[in-house]
Amino acid sequence: MKAFDLEQVRKDFPILSRAVNGKPLVYLDNAATAQKPACVIQALTNYYEHYNANIHRGIHTLSEEATSAYEAVRESIRDFIAAPCLRSVIFTRNATEAVNLVAHSWGRTNILPGDEIVLSAMEHHSNLVPWQLLASERGAKLVYLELTESGEIDLQQAASVIGARTKLVAVTMMSNVLGTIVPVAELAKLAHAAGALVLVDGAQGVPHLKTSVTELDCDFLVFSLHKMLGPTGVGVLWGRPELLEAMPPFLSGGDMIGSVWRDRVKFNELPYKFEAGTPNIADVIASGAAIDYLNRLGMDNVRAHEIELTKYALNRMKELDDALVYGPLDANKRGGVISFNFADVHPHDIGQILNESGIAIRAGHHCCQPLMRDLKVAGTARASFYIYNTKDEIDQFLEALQEADKVMGHVACR
Ligand SMILES: Cc1ncc(COP(=O)(O)O)c(C=O)c1O
Repeated sequence: MKAFDLEQVRKDFPILSRAVNGKPLVYLDNAATAQKPACVIQALTNYYEHYNANIHRGIHTLSEEATSAYEAVRESIRDFIAAPCLRSVIFTRNATEAVNLVAHSWGRTNILPGDEIVLSAMEHHSNLVPWQLLASERGAKLVYLELTESGEIDLQQAASVIGARTKLVAVTMMSNVLGTIVPVAELAKLAHAAGALVLVDGAQGVPHLKTSVTELDCDFLVFSLHKMLGPTGVGVLWGRPELLEAMPPFLSGGDMIGSVWRDRVKFNELPYKFEAGTPNIADVIASGAAIDYLNRLGMDNVRAHEIELTKYALNRMKELDDALVYGPLDANKRGGVISFNFADVHPHDIGQILNESGIAIRAGHHCCQPLMRDLKVAGTARASFYIYNTKDEIDQFLEALQEADKVMGHVACR
């Protein structure tokens, strides 16, 4: 029995009926951003057509409606990540801003010279550069969790580097290059035993894996709604409330205040202390429709669908003699992200040839340059799946790759 009606799901996404270069669009760039179902697009236009108003301050009907729709999404997100309380769900512009919030606010208050911040060797620049800047400002040091041959966290090495100097372990929940699912709870056990905190970059994990902050046992979780069917411009920071209470504001101005005098300010309570200025009301409200859509499908079903697609794609990739696939080969240990290279061929050329067949993949360093250096490549080609992708699309992808392999094989040998 199918976990959900795939044909119906595809009908819910207007963009999937368009053609690219005369061929039906095959969208395999979901790790960059996901497509949006009609209900999300409608939620956006509905807000602007019927109750566009600023929130929290107004006493008129439109403002009350907008405020209650905006706050209802906070509750949907709390529920989606099984967070114990609502006041620790904070809206940001994206996952990147949420990491920066923690680095500036918690980091500048708590990181001291000689402290260590532990990152994995496969972090996205968004969960790397903010810590580099913080470490250089505070005289702290970055330490890396190395990967095994198959691109997984080496827990033995992790146990040897997480120790008394560690103040923070900041790791991805799922790699946007290798697809690797990180054993966050096991790392959290090591970190907490050493008295350190754990920040999880859920930009890839939360859209694809059923998520509970309690089960992850993390202290901060960040993610972006645009990778999970929502609009661009909405991110989330979840943090343990006692940590957030103790942290100074990140940005300041309107909304984040309780009272202001000429010479001082009393900050607003959580979560508003961290939401300065008019937020992205429309996109937050439309994000609620995205969460509802995923809940209707069921995150266990989303995961099951992606395991099936990934298994199928990994198997078919074996037909390509020249393809080198990165990351764990067991679909149960990874998400639906497949990075690969052909010998001597630049991944951009693969991307361009596939685009001619209407197939959208990503090529480049995927904002993971240190990992690319470890892999000794300039970049990779990457196909990534989501709820609306089909085995038939993977077949088209494979046929186009076989064709590309033939053409580029010639080019590369010349
Ligand atoms: C693992 C990971 N972390 C962080 C980000 C940054 O997300 P955003 O650009 O939405 O802030 C991405 C985006 O691709 C990602 O894949």
